Amino acid sequence: MPSQKTVQDYIRTIPDFPHAGILFRDVTTLFQDARGFRLAVDQLLAPFVGEKIDMVAGLEARGFILGGAVAHQLSKGFVPIRKKGKLPARTIEQDYELEYGRATVEIHDDALEPGQKVLLVDDLLATGGTAEAGIRLIERLGAEVVGCTFVVDLPDLGGRKRLEAMGVPVHALCTYAGL
Ligand code: PRP
Ligand code: MG
Repeated sequence: MPSQKTVQDYIRTIPDFPHAGILFRDVTTLFQDARGFRLAVDQLLAPFVGEKIDMVAGLEARGFILGGAVAHQLSKGFVPIRKKGKLPARTIEQDYELEYGRATVEIHDDALEPGQKVLLVDDLLATGGTAEAGIRLIERLGAEVVGCTFVVDLPDLGGRKRLEAMGVPVHALCTYAGL
């Protein structure tokens, strides 16, 4: 009988990384398995098939791996949203909260055109701070986020509610309750 593994079956959990008490959901084991990777990419874009999408955007770093594959599958272009200081041309930037302190992400200011419809991709949704910053960058360029798609949702950290409150549909392939 063929294996019916789910996306979640390919994700491994590493205790105490990067800090004591954190259960790190490691998607590298999903990416390195050919069937798992294809399953994840197919499921990430499934709810958006048939919707008008002009561009896929990905959040550094694992959102690049997934977003690039999603863009290729949809035959669309890919736009990186990077940590500050990595993009070479003119950018706009957006601050966001981290567990301790703040961080900044950037997008090239000519990466999107007003009115374009964008699908935003990342590996994991926790507080939603990173994705919210990405949405704000996309919207500041006059484009529209048609949805955010993630492999993992940690619902206890409130990210889904935060993004949905911005009017952005959220799709995730698996959840880990209780962090
Ligand atoms: C992780 C994860 C998401 C983000 C989710 O990235 O890959 O991008 O945190 O957290 P949030 O919903 O609370 O914002 P991280 O900032 O660790 O950076 P990396 O992807 O470059 O490793
Ligand atoms: Mg990340």
